[in-house]
Amino acid sequence: MTTWRDHIDVLYDAETIKRRIAELGAQITRDLAGRSPIFVGILKGSVPFFADLIRAVDLPVQCEFMGISSYGDDTESSGVVQITYDLTKTIEGQDVVLVEDIVDTGLSMQYLLASMATRRPRSVRVCTLLEKPDNARVKIPLDYVGFRIPNEFVIGYGLDYAGKYRNLPFIGVYRGPT
Ligand code: IMP
Repeated sequence: MTTWRDHIDVLYDAETIKRRIAELGAQITRDLAGRSPIFVGILKGSVPFFADLIRAVDLPVQCEFMGISSYGDDTESSGVVQITYDLTKTIEGQDVVLVEDIVDTGLSMQYLLASMATRRPRSVRVCTLLEKPDNARVKIPLDYVGFRIPNEFVIGYGLDYAGKYRNLPFIGVYRGPT
């Protein structure tokens, strides 16, 4: 019998993701030594990554979230972004690490970086679990990238298709009916 699981090919399993996040956490710990950075998770896709990443960072981290929604269909970014949930405190003069699930066209991150800049932080770094370099429409400075992937639609570990599959403990390529 065919189940929903048969439509997903595993790209990175849970163990591989865990190992890579440990590396990213160690790198961020070195780069921000002596600081108390604010990690800003971009809802909803970054939630599992955010939770694992902050625990891999050996610094007194502060946590904030921003919610954005991008107008467009399910698999293409339109670049028109709306803030649906904003930071609860000022980031002025602070070191910020933006935590995102995936940078695809880069349009969402471009908008977020512009929004951050108006709030006058001391520094802003971008940490994304995934990057699809082949699909980039704008050049975004990415400080930390978990994995660079080909231009395929991925799900799991925070990433959704039509709101589903964020709970999968691995990252997979969705090959199901659309
Ligand atoms: P961008 O603005 O094109 O960089 O798109 C960023 C957002 O598009 C991400 O935060 C995701 O919500 C969504 N997205 C882009 N590619 C994928 C994918 O392969 N799977 C799931 N969501 C994706």
